[in-house]
Amino acid sequence: MTELAIRRKRTASLRPLTGGVMLAVALSFGCWEQMDDGKWFPQMKRQPAVQAFEMVTWNDQLEGFTPPAGTVPVGGAGLPDLAAMDIPSQDAVPNPVQPTLESLKNGEKRFGQFCAPCHGPLGMGDGPVAGPSPFAPNNTGPLPVVLPINGPTSMAKVFSDGHLYTTISLGRGRMPSYNRIPPMERWDIVNYLREINGQGVRQ
Ligand code: HEC
Repeated sequence: MTELAIRRKRTASLRPLTGGVMLAVALSFGCWEQMDDGKWFPQMKRQPAVQAFEMVTWNDQLEGFTPPAGTVPVGGAGLPDLAAMDIPSQDAVPNPVQPTLESLKNGEKRFGQFCAPCHGPLGMGDGPVAGPSPFAPNNTGPLPVVLPINGPTSMAKVFSDGHLYTTISLGRGRMPSYNRIPPMERWDIVNYLREINGQGVRQ
């Protein structure tokens, strides 16, 4: 036998042994992981993960799905933290969105989706959800006294842009928060309110 042939033969006879050792090593690692219950080698499947929409309980009741604490909405970096401000500071938040035709059109659309159910199609406080009020005594909906945000007794007319934006963002009194509307589109609604209240400076 040549030297090469001998070497080949030795290597071949070692092959099953090497395979066996590798298999044993692989299996034993697997067992450790199982027996150790993930403490020795933390497993990816058991890592502490923040779920996208965690369930939140408050007052022993399910509060619905809330994004985890610290979640920033898309495009939301650098937005004012309204909840941490006092009312004069909220009222003074400047409107960063120019009242272009595009902004007003989007504001009209969003108003129809989010505000009209209570405040009415023209903002007179007479949407289908609104109940009777001094402003619209013939309302038949379940929520009494929805304030008008247009017309002669408009609440929107007397408040600053920052106040309207904060009302949409945090809610106010019996009005719920509409923070599901993206921040810049809330300003579109503010611009639209200015327009229908005859205070518009359309560009
Ligand atoms: C579920 C019904 C409802 C919806 C929807 C709603 N509102 Fe209201 N809104 C109210 C009620 C009720 C009040 C009176 C709040 C109070 O004083 O208790 C109010 C008050 C207001 C006020 C006066 C705030 C103040 O300081 O007195 C403004 C401005 C306003 N809403 C704007 C809006 C806009 C803009 C939208 C759409 C994004 C909207 N609302 C959607 C029910 C609603």
